[in-house]
Amino acid sequence: PLEESLYHRLGGEKTLQQLVEVFYDKVARHPDLAPIFPDDFTLTKEKQFKFLSQFFGGPDLYNQAYGHPMLRARHLRFPITPTRARAWLACMQETLDELGLEDHIKQEMMMRLTYTAQHMINTPEQEN
Ligand code: HEM
Repeated sequence: PLEESLYHRLGGEKTLQQLVEVFYDKVARHPDLAPIFPDDFTLTKEKQFKFLSQFFGGPDLYNQAYGHPMLRARHLRFPITPTRARAWLACMQETLDELGLEDHIKQEMMMRLTYTAQHMINTPEQEN
């Protein structure tokens, strides 16, 4: 039998909807992250929900709505330092802990997100 996708195992759409709500509340309150995000997270949440759906092997909602993600290119206008990447991942780890997902699912998600977050770094450590 085919192994079920990570998307399915993490709880699909319902979990990812909760995830973006909890995650961006943390981002909005994080001193290293808040300054580079818009004040209104509505569109950010919607895009991230759609992106993570396909990222974890579910429906390709982001591509259907916005075309190819070109994720690194879309992040180039924001100064993403190693500190910000660590902060983003810390907010995500806290979020997954609060959602109460199983350890091995969290680890699998964090491995993939960590790899992508490293790839988004485009600016050396700076004074801001
Ligand atoms: C958009 C920051 C990592 C996925 C954004 C935006 C910022 C940002 C400031 C723009 C928000 C907006 O205009 O609505 C960061 C920082 C990261 C990071 C500091 C630290 C490494 C990631 C990772 C992923 C991701 C790891 C995916 C796994 C996205 C997506 C968007 C986005 C899908 C929306 C792109 C669009 O269509 O405009 N990010 N990001 N980001 N980010 Fe990140």
